[in-house]
Amino acid sequence: MTAWDDHWMRLVSKEVHGERGVLVFEAPTLAEALEPGQFLNLEAPGRLLRRPMAPAVVAGRVLVFVRARGVGTRSLLGLPVGASLRALGPLGNAFPLPAGRAVLVSGGTGVGPMLFLARRLAALGHEVVLFHGARDASEGFLLPFLRRSAAEVRFFTEDGSLGERGFPTELLPFALRPGDTVYAVGPEPLMEKAARAAQAMALPAYVSLEAPMACGVGSCLSCRVELRSGPVHVCKAGPVFPAEEVFFAEPA
Ligand SMILES: Cc1cc2nc3c(=O)[nH]c(=O)nc-3n(C[C@H](O)[C@H](O)[C@H](O)COP(=O)(O)OP(=O)(O)OC[C@H]3O[C@@H](n4cnc5c(N)ncnc54)[C@H](O)[C@@H]3O)c2cc1C
Ligand code: FES
Repeated sequence: MTAWDDHWMRLVSKEVHGERGVLVFEAPTLAEALEPGQFLNLEAPGRLLRRPMAPAVVAGRVLVFVRARGVGTRSLLGLPVGASLRALGPLGNAFPLPAGRAVLVSGGTGVGPMLFLARRLAALGHEVVLFHGARDASEGFLLPFLRRSAAEVRFFTEDGSLGERGFPTELLPFALRPGDTVYAVGPEPLMEKAARAAQAMALPAYVSLEAPMACGVGSCLSCRVELRSGPVHVCKAGPVFPAEEVFFAEPA
């Protein structure tokens, strides 16, 4: 994997829908170096600390899917087109390749790394199925990105206002076959249920963990989590981990 560096990223377009949006950056060297699953520590306008974001690379551009949570993510969504930000990256590890078919499950801002992985695996000749769970039709702007990334896309909304009604993890156990590898990025209940569905069929599964981060490079020790094999710092050892290593908060 390429060593990290500090890169300039120029915002060339953006699409914002309420609390969510996608920022499209020009950063050719970074786009070339990033692997699916890796993250950036991205400057947030007016803030001292950078914010970790796991992007997708599409057509040579770096796409960051942002959900407003606090001041940093709000300032990112408000960034004017043409502005430039610095980003430390590529940081962290990448998703391992599957042996056979890859079943990807994303929710919320997990869409970035999942569609990046879908594109990379399809280019390598793997069969890819992509499940995405959204709250409602306001996340419909993601559909074109998903459909351009995987041949088979299942889009779910909790209220049934777009696509199939319910959670992607309800259908997942019926869609899995022997030989599949499962990848899940999103809210913890989604990752936990995807991991359990994989475990029930003895399939390998990988998840990407979020932990509060400051430096992103292993110096501040703020991103420590306890895994079954012991404590790790998510920014250095992760963010991608085998699902069986992770203690999920709630048993399913
Ligand atoms: C590997 C990784 C990839 C991520 N990818 C994305 C993404 O693609 N899109 C997206 O919208 N969000 C992503 N997040 C979550 C995002 O980093 C937080 O939502 C964001 O840092 C919150 O900043 P804020 O200023 O809006 O909120 P505040 O709560 O005001 O943040 C204050 C501080 O806490 C840190 N912090 C707070 N919540 C988190 C969190 N969940 N994870 C890490 N640091 C946190 C911030 O970096 C900041 O230093 C990712 C997190 C990680 C760890
Ligand atoms: S964010 Fe500083 S050690 Fe992980």
